[in-house]
Amino acid sequence: MERTLLITGCSSGIGETCAFGMKARGWRVFATARREEDLERLSAAGLEAVYLDYDEPESVEACVSQVAAATHGRLDALFNNGAYGQPGALEDLTRDVLRRQFETNVFGWHDLTRQVIPLMRAQGHGRIVQNSSVLGLVAMKWRGAYNASKFAIEGLTDTLRLELRGSGIHVSLIEPGPVYSKFMETALKHFEENIDIEHSPYREQYLARRRKLSGESRPSPFKLPPEAVLKKLVHALESPRPKPRYFVTLPTHIMAVLRRVLPTRALDIILDKASDSN
Ligand SMILES: NC(=O)c1ccc[n+]([C@@H]2O[C@H](COP(=O)([O-])OP(=O)(O)OC[C@H]3O[C@@H](n4cnc5c(N)ncnc54)[C@H](OP(=O)(O)O)[C@@H]3O)[C@@H](O)[C@H]2O)c1
Repeated sequence: MERTLLITGCSSGIGETCAFGMKARGWRVFATARREEDLERLSAAGLEAVYLDYDEPESVEACVSQVAAATHGRLDALFNNGAYGQPGALEDLTRDVLRRQFETNVFGWHDLTRQVIPLMRAQGHGRIVQNSSVLGLVAMKWRGAYNASKFAIEGLTDTLRLELRGSGIHVSLIEPGPVYSKFMETALKHFEENIDIEHSPYREQYLARRRKLSGESRPSPFKLPPEAVLKKLVHALESPRPKPRYFVTLPTHIMAVLRRVLPTRALDIILDKASDSN
C-alpha cells in the first residue's frame, strides 16, 4: 500500500522541496498551501494539493477531513513545516504581533498534530516530524518571537515523544540552520509591517538587520539548499529507528555542542556576536 504523507507550507522553500522529494521516493504526498495559484501549481505537478492556513482552525479541520476521506482514514506521516519569522527586539513586539507568531508557528502546528494522531493511533503507527530550527536550541537578538515559538515547539515535541512512547507513533525534530528559501524575504515583510523601525531605541541595529534580510550583505557561507532538510526527513520517515533530533547545517551542530558545554555567560558572548553577523 502507498505510504501517505501530509506536508504543510509547500508553496516554497523546504516544504516544496520535501513534497516533491518524497513524491519522487514513492510516497503519496498531500501538500498544503494557502494561495490558489500555489495550490494549482502543486496539483499540476502531480501532488495532492490541500488548502491549509494554520491561522484558520476551520481550515486545519477541513484539511484533515479531506486527507482522511482520500486515504480511507489512513495517514502514515505528518511534516509540520509552514511557518514564518517575526523579527524585532522584544520590547518592540506588541502582544498582538507575538500572539500572531504563536498562532501560526505553535498553535496551528499543535492543532493539526492532535487531529492526525487519532488516525495514526487507529492504524497502529505513524511518524510526526516537526521542522524546528537552530533557534529552537539557542536564542539570538532581534528574533525573540520566532525563538520563543521554536522553543515552544521543542517543548511540545519533547513532551509528545514521551507521551507517545510505545504507541507506534514516532516523533522527530529537524533543526535547520540557514537554508535557502523565501524565509528572509517574508521575515523582512513582517519586520516592516509590524515594527516601528524609525522610532525604536534599536533603530541603528534594525537598519543593519534590514540590510541583512534584504540580502544586501554577504551571503552566509554556511547556508544550505532545502535538499539538506529533505535528506533528514527521509531518514525520519523511512528509517526503522528514526532519531528524536536531526541537525542540519554546521551552525546547528556547533550551537548544539556549545549550549551543552559552555556556561550561559560564555554562550551569551558568542550569541551576542552571532546575532548581528547572521
Ligand atoms: N530557511 C531557513 O533558514 C530556516 C532555518 C530553520 C528553520 N526553518 C523552518 O523551515 C520551515 C519552512 O521555512 P522555509 O525556510 O522553507 O521558508 P519559506 O520559503 O518562507 O516557506 C514557508 C512556508 O510556510 C507557509 N506558511 C506561512 N504561514 C503559514 C500559515 N499561517 N499557515 C500555513 N502555512 C504557512 C508559507 O506559505 P505562504 O507562501 O502562503 O506564506 C510557505 O509555504 C519553517 O518552519 C521555518 O521556521 C527555516
